[in-house]
Amino acid sequence: MAELHVSEHPLVRHKLSLLRQSSTEPKKFRDLVRELAIVLAVEATADLALQDEPVTTPLAEMTGAKVAERVGLVPILRAGLGMVEGVWDLIPGAEVWHIGLYRDERTLRPVEYYNKLPVQPTVDVCLVLDPMLATGGSAVATIDILKRWGARRVKFVGIIAAPEGVQRLREAHPDVPIHVAAVDDHLNEHGYIVPGLGDAGDRQFGTA
Ligand code: PRP
Ligand code: URA
Repeated sequence: MAELHVSEHPLVRHKLSLLRQSSTEPKKFRDLVRELAIVLAVEATADLALQDEPVTTPLAEMTGAKVAERVGLVPILRAGLGMVEGVWDLIPGAEVWHIGLYRDERTLRPVEYYNKLPVQPTVDVCLVLDPMLATGGSAVATIDILKRWGARRVKFVGIIAAPEGVQRLREAHPDVPIHVAAVDDHLNEHGYIVPGLGDAGDRQFGTA
């Protein structure tokens, strides 16, 4: 079964509470998404492979380390966009591949509208970035796309998950670890996570 990592970092707990507050305006909301994504990505990349790298310090030669895996960041549009910048600062050599999906409001099923992946995979590890794992439909569809592309190692990095989404993602992709800041109580009848934070895309882009 897929590993589920729920961050217990105090800064994550603190920032997530600010993010949930309905009075948090879009600029602050975007800052918090960016900051949370950094901490969650640090945790999600703790097992990246390293190779030896010679280093010359002002005092001596030594053997240092270099990340040996090519990382791809795969934000799910729109809301995943807000998680890219911070993680990209952390891993500046990462490639960014956008996947455009929106949830049909009636069926809650994901509809694909953007995918420009090249023919062959160009990275070793994909970090799928999306703040919300609700029914799990968008994450499962994105990881289906990445696996058909040939991605071998995929991790999901989100901010809030519903138990329903965790279960669905685990069943569909048991090899994909899930890294989130919280697993909330339930989904409501409209497919929103409760207590959640509302619509992550609208709150970032000021389109509520
Ligand atoms: C939101 C969110 C996820 C999806 C999660 O996107 O960013 O992509 O819903 O729901 P699911 O787990 O039930 O698929 P939305 O479709 O609202 O699009 P947006 O990011 O463009 O606002
Ligand atoms: N998408 C969101 O942005 N929020 C939810 O609660 C569920 C899906």
